[in-house]
Amino acid sequence: MIGEPWSTGVSRGSDGVVSVGGVDVHTLAATHGTPAYVLDEADLRSRARSYRRAFETAFAEIGAGVDVYYAGKAFLSVAVARWVHEEGLRVDTATGGELAVALRAGVPGADIGLHGNNKSDSEIARALDAGVGRIIVDSLVEIERVADAASAEHPAPVMVRVTTGVHAGGHEYISTAHEDQKFGLSIHAANGDSPAMQGLLKVLSRPELTLLGIHSHIGSQILDPSGFEVAARAVLTLRAQLAERTGVLVEEVDLGGGYGIAYLPGEVALDPDRIAKDIASSVSASAQDVGTPLPRFSIEPGRAIVGPAGLTLYTVGTVKPVRIDDGSIRTYVSVDGGMSDNIRPALYGAQYHAEIVGRRSDESTVLARVVGKHCESGDIVVHEVRLPGDVRAGDLLAVAATGAYGRSMASNYNHVPRPPVVAVADGQTRVLVRRETEDDLLALDQG
Ligand code: LLP
Repeated sequence: MIGEPWSTGVSRGSDGVVSVGGVDVHTLAATHGTPAYVLDEADLRSRARSYRRAFETAFAEIGAGVDVYYAGKAFLSVAVARWVHEEGLRVDTATGGELAVALRAGVPGADIGLHGNNKSDSEIARALDAGVGRIIVDSLVEIERVADAASAEHPAPVMVRVTTGVHAGGHEYISTAHEDQKFGLSIHAANGDSPAMQGLLKVLSRPELTLLGIHSHIGSQILDPSGFEVAARAVLTLRAQLAERTGVLVEEVDLGGGYGIAYLPGEVALDPDRIAKDIASSVSASAQDVGTPLPRFSIEPGRAIVGPAGLTLYTVGTVKPVRIDDGSIRTYVSVDGGMSDNIRPALYGAQYHAEIVGRRSDESTVLARVVGKHCESGDIVVHEVRLPGDVRAGDLLAVAATGAYGRSMASNYNHVPRPPVVAVADGQTRVLVRRETEDDLLALDQG
């Protein structure tokens, strides 16, 4: 094991060759080609288990139940949906497409949630058809829409997504609970009832809906846990206000996802045991303060389950020293993928760590930038990393912690086919999602 940010199944032999789950990178590259997303099954399963156990244990201590939903937007395939379900997680989906994958995996509808700020009528109909356990409604209009699609005999189970004003997480685009953005209904009232209270009352007024609870997701890649606690207190307060007003004490509170991971060596991920204990003791105190019994809780981690379990394997194509502003040299290392398989550096300025993984090098390191093959200078894979001075064409280069929001946000920019997702476990590889081909892309082109 070479430690974070690599998955636990990553090790480097004395010859310098790196293996994942018992398969060395030369075998991976020869069998599946590069670029390829490589997913360490044992690592992913163990993170899913750790989150479930940590939260179940901590919440049992305060006398509350908890369900862990895997947020499929981070990466979803049929196998991954099965794995997390086998580990006792449910599956959170954000679109009809993600719902289709979870259903194809055999996850029972009752164990699936459907999110989205603009669900189509057909997505709502499919969710109702599949008997999903919860639809998380995001606006007053949508509450009407879901109610119109359901019936009083078979009411749709809904949670109302609220925003608490807590802004947490890495980049503005991935922080979702501050006020000037599209998600949820605000708990803050300009005058009269807050949009969140209006939403809850509207759900209660429609016999075609069952109000399961209140949902709050505050952002992503959160490394400071206090945001969860502030948001949870606000949600528990709203729940108590609703109970006072209507006599209905909703059964469940969902605290969303957003648990941060390590992307660089030396960065520290949130520890599931620690965060579960902190959140549990804080919600217990909040519930006591507002004078209501504890609800059942749920959480929705995505990145924390799949992010560290994945790496991307590339082949180096060109190496070019470039003199930069301060007069020093930056070595540009071009790989055979780029912003089409990982948009996060370009979109969020996300930082990653890379290493040459196919051999040992005793050369001293140089300041390098790993770039892709796309026609755009912002096509950066790793902004800054030290690589061996003899880095050269043909080297295998791996980027760590690309399991979340890599494949799921991949594109075909420049008509580049998307890489496969290859799972590794016990010395065996298995293709979860095959590599796209030019024929796949041309098949869409109607001439
Ligand atoms: N639940 C809800 C309602 C969400 O909106 C999200 C993420 C999650 C759960 C899972 O969050 P996680 O545990 O994975 O942080 N594309 C961005 C991340 C966007 C996250 C959107 N919502 C990125 O690459 O960083």
